[in-house]
Amino acid sequence: MENKVMNTEQGHWILAKMGKRVLRPGGKELTEMLVNGLAISNQDNFVEFAPGIGYTASVILSKNPKSYKGIELNQEAVANLKIKFQGNSQVNFINRSASDTGIAENSIDKVIGEAMLTMQAEHRKSEIIKEAYRILKKGGLYGIHELGLHPDNFAPELKSSIQRGLAETIKVNARPLTKVEWCELLEKEGFKIKAVHETPMHLLRAKRMIDDEGLFRTLKIGFKIMTHPKAKNRIFSMRKVFEKYEKQMVAYAIIAEKV
Ligand SMILES: C[S@@+](CC[C@H](N)C(=O)[O-])C[C@H]1O[C@@H](n2cnc3c(N)ncnc32)[C@H](O)[C@@H]1O
Repeated sequence: MENKVMNTEQGHWILAKMGKRVLRPGGKELTEMLVNGLAISNQDNFVEFAPGIGYTASVILSKNPKSYKGIELNQEAVANLKIKFQGNSQVNFINRSASDTGIAENSIDKVIGEAMLTMQAEHRKSEIIKEAYRILKKGGLYGIHELGLHPDNFAPELKSSIQRGLAETIKVNARPLTKVEWCELLEKEGFKIKAVHETPMHLLRAKRMIDDEGLFRTLKIGFKIMTHPKAKNRIFSMRKVFEKYEKQMVAYAIIAEKV
């Protein structure tokens, strides 16, 4: 049931319903760094894990890859994506888990996944990374953009408090990791780290909102939030947690190669 419709108990879907299009922790800026680092060409067979509402899909498709497949667990999101990108013959959205895509092994040049590993338990994170490795050709690239913690020698008690705070407010068991932990998780499955980029986690800060959504859209989102009291309370409590742990939470974009 949970993945049939966008469960608006969860923070990302509340924001999406309020009109927010950029739902990843490092915003548009970090997505751009990630996409540029993947150097997408018209020879690339491309896969996106968890396209959500299709923001990155638009960015990727503007680079004209040979083919694009979006693997999205949420049925309503897939139905919306199919409408949004209809008529584009090299594009395909599939309602499956990224841990079991059904795509042939060694057949894909590049895989991207944003704000989707953080919400998985550790063993599920590894299953998804394994699947990216399986479908990629040798030399293929996997780009992730996820919620991070810093510094690397992070106190376990503080990590638990942050996880609890996030779970209570965004209603998703978010488990952010330090830079070293994210890199080790990828290396454990055979990837070689090629680049790591970092930005502050300012998802709900006014400046980031304007950078990500533009001024007009930010005003529209702001108005919608103010006229939906339930969503407003939830979004304000999310922002409180993000502000509380602002020094510890960051966003990482990592590009890894299948060697
Ligand atoms: C926070 S949203 C991010 C969406 C999009 N990547 C973005 O950055 O705007 C998380 C997305 O991950 C999807 N998702 C969660 N687990 C998944 C899985 N195992 N396989 C595919 N999609 C998944 C959710 O349905 C949702 O669309």
